[in-house]
Amino acid sequence: MKNKILVTGGVGYIGSHTCIELINAGFDIVVYDNLSNSSIEALHRVESIVGQSIEFIEGDILDYSLLDHVFKTYEFFAVIHFAGLKAVGESVAKPLLYYKNNVTGTLNLLEVMQRYSVKNFVFSSSATVYGDPETLPIVETAPRSCTNPYGQSKLTVEYILEDLAQSDPTWNIVSLRYFNPVGAHKSGLIGEDPNDIPNNLMPYISQVAVGKLKQLSIFGNDYDTVDGTGVRDFIHVVDLANGHVAALDYLVNHQAIGFLPINLGTGKGTSVLELVHAFIESTGVDVPYQFVDRRPGDVASCYASAAFAKELLNWSADLNIVDMCRDTWQWQSKNPKGYTSESFS
Ligand code: NAD
Ligand code: UD1
Repeated sequence: MKNKILVTGGVGYIGSHTCIELINAGFDIVVYDNLSNSSIEALHRVESIVGQSIEFIEGDILDYSLLDHVFKTYEFFAVIHFAGLKAVGESVAKPLLYYKNNVTGTLNLLEVMQRYSVKNFVFSSSATVYGDPETLPIVETAPRSCTNPYGQSKLTVEYILEDLAQSDPTWNIVSLRYFNPVGAHKSGLIGEDPNDIPNNLMPYISQVAVGKLKQLSIFGNDYDTVDGTGVRDFIHVVDLANGHVAALDYLVNHQAIGFLPINLGTGKGTSVLELVHAFIESTGVDVPYQFVDRRPGDVASCYASAAFAKELLNWSADLNIVDMCRDTWQWQSKNPKGYTSESFS
């Protein structure tokens, strides 16, 4: 059977959306998460969306013996590995925490997989591994570099995965390099629920819109871009989730693929200001903003070449910026306090 999948970090933002699409595609999933950056309520809501219960193990990827027990219990075809810490600023303040969680945790998981001969692996990588891109759109063969411990942890795992695939051709590894995931499931039941003041643009916009935050600061309007603000490749989280299904389908049908990095982006750049205006127009809700200095470490423009994903996986993004804004707002307005909100309808 090639349909039993371990989903680490499956309660988080991208993982929870991916669980839905995996189940819809007929995969049988087991979710493994320590809930360090997520609420179990998200999984309950996924269960209500798909109309079935989901096997859940509360555990840490740093816990080798629990992982060992899980692999002894289930016969997995593949692992999708979302579990990790992702806040760039926090990674600068706590590099050891980030390397331990993201690198040591992944090593643990890979060792257990090797032990049980489960050698199909889908890794959550990031466009951050491209650093300040020399050419746009960014192709998978572009040079890699990182400037912060979070990015370094992703890049280090990519190097480990490359070496692993090189050492043993029975490993099949897809490293999905996400561009900027935004949006939410169309039900409005699940979405991104940052613990603190958001670092990323879209959750900040939606929290200003809902009145939780006063105004958006736009970091820089003097970049060499269409309107001076930063340009990014925003991708709807449901499209991203479907990219994982496409990657798994590829693994089901191909062997000895080695280490395969694949961009998951739309291929289209949108500026910060364009996104803010799209949000205001598609929701009818105002988002006051001011321009402030550039944020250190930011690049002017970053968007994917989506050609390889199309060619190899026959996957491409369907949803546009208006869908992303509408679905973000649907989630935020129904759940102003995220998963701690009292009710949803
Ligand atoms: P998230 O924080 O919402 O989800 C990560 C999940 O992993 C959480 O549920 C958390 O509780 C769990 N987790 C963290 N450490 C763990 C550990 N040691 N053991 C078990 N579970 C653990 O983040 P997300 O946005 O869903 O991101 C998922 C993955 O994609 C991460 O690896 C992230 O680095 C990567 N990624 C995210 C983005 C983005 O913009 N969201 C962009 C590129 C890459
Ligand atoms: C950031 C991380 C990156 C990570 C990605 C997804 C940095 C330097 N990079 O990328 O490593 O993979 O998130 O988690 O943190 N912006 C504002 N005001 C805000 C927030 C953002 O103007 O309040 C601007 C930024 O300057 C940028 C754009 O919006 O131009 C997107 O920012 P963000 O959502 O943080 O994503 P990235 O910077 O692309």
